[in-house]
Amino acid sequence: MHILGLGNGTVNGNSEILLKAALTAAEKADSSITTSWIHVPSVSVPRNPRPLEGAQDVSMGTIGQTGVGGDTVPDDRRDVLNAILAADALIFATPIYSHQPAGTLKMLVDRILGPFTDAAFVQRVLDSQMAGEKTYQHIKLDKRILKPRVAAFIAVGGSPFNDQVTMALPTLHQFVYSLHAKVVDQHVFRGFGRPGSVLLRGGEAVQRAEKLGQNVASQIGKTFDEAKYLGPEDPASCPYCHMSKVEIDYTQDNDIGCITCGARGKLVVGENGRIQPVWETS
Ligand SMILES: Cc1cc2nc3c(=O)[nH]c(=O)nc-3n(C[C@H](O)[C@H](O)[C@H](O)COP(=O)(O)O)c2cc1C
Repeated sequence: MHILGLGNGTVNGNSEILLKAALTAAEKADSSITTSWIHVPSVSVPRNPRPLEGAQDVSMGTIGQTGVGGDTVPDDRRDVLNAILAADALIFATPIYSHQPAGTLKMLVDRILGPFTDAAFVQRVLDSQMAGEKTYQHIKLDKRILKPRVAAFIAVGGSPFNDQVTMALPTLHQFVYSLHAKVVDQHVFRGFGRPGSVLLRGGEAVQRAEKLGQNVASQIGKTFDEAKYLGPEDPASCPYCHMSKVEIDYTQDNDIGCITCGARGKLVVGENGRIQPVWETS
């Protein structure tokens, strides 16, 4: 079993320290596990690349436009996609910039993941091909997309305030949902603005990252339904993405929706007089 880390921050910075703590702890927890990691800001992608085979063109009409002297930048997209599809678990570690994961990660995900690595789509095409239907016969599929995969998220912000970090985890979830990876842990590390500051405060951040690595190790190889979420939760959390981030639809009798995964529910007044969500579960 292999865990791939995707580190999205400063070299030797806070998110890299925590990613390495998580990966090392996972290897210690289970000696059969191997790990590797990619420094996302170092991934090289030409300025206006053609889409990968089978992928959607997201160049916005700029394919082939190059800078002065032409683009001689290497294209790492295929290697990164192969590393992701070969892995049994993914740990994303990112700084928070402007309340979200730093943009280098979003840029990379837009270029290599998305609809053409969508497990539901791949399964539908495979079923159709097996049934001998003509529509999808020409499509070549990478069956590794369907492999059981778990994921965990580390987000590090300098701010101690919730509103300045609150969109980090919802965005990180979008990076793995097309792969149908099960999120088993997630943590926002707040108030760590200075380089290396995650090593302070008695090492509590490092210990939490190690726990996250152990949680991944304990769930790796399990199917989506078997793998358990082991991260933080509160009584209002959505039962699927385990966060309390909702939109309210007053036109529909106080219906709520989870902004991360789309689960539906209602706001009701509980016996203790407090407003609380009641989520629809299947
Ligand atoms: C451009 C920029 C924007 C930032 N925006 C936020 C923010 O919105 N919320 C926050 O909590 N921290 C913010 N920070 C602070 C970083 O998240 C913090 O310093 C983090 O520890 C950097 O991680 P790294 O050492 O792995 O690069 C920002 C930093 C930069 C450089």
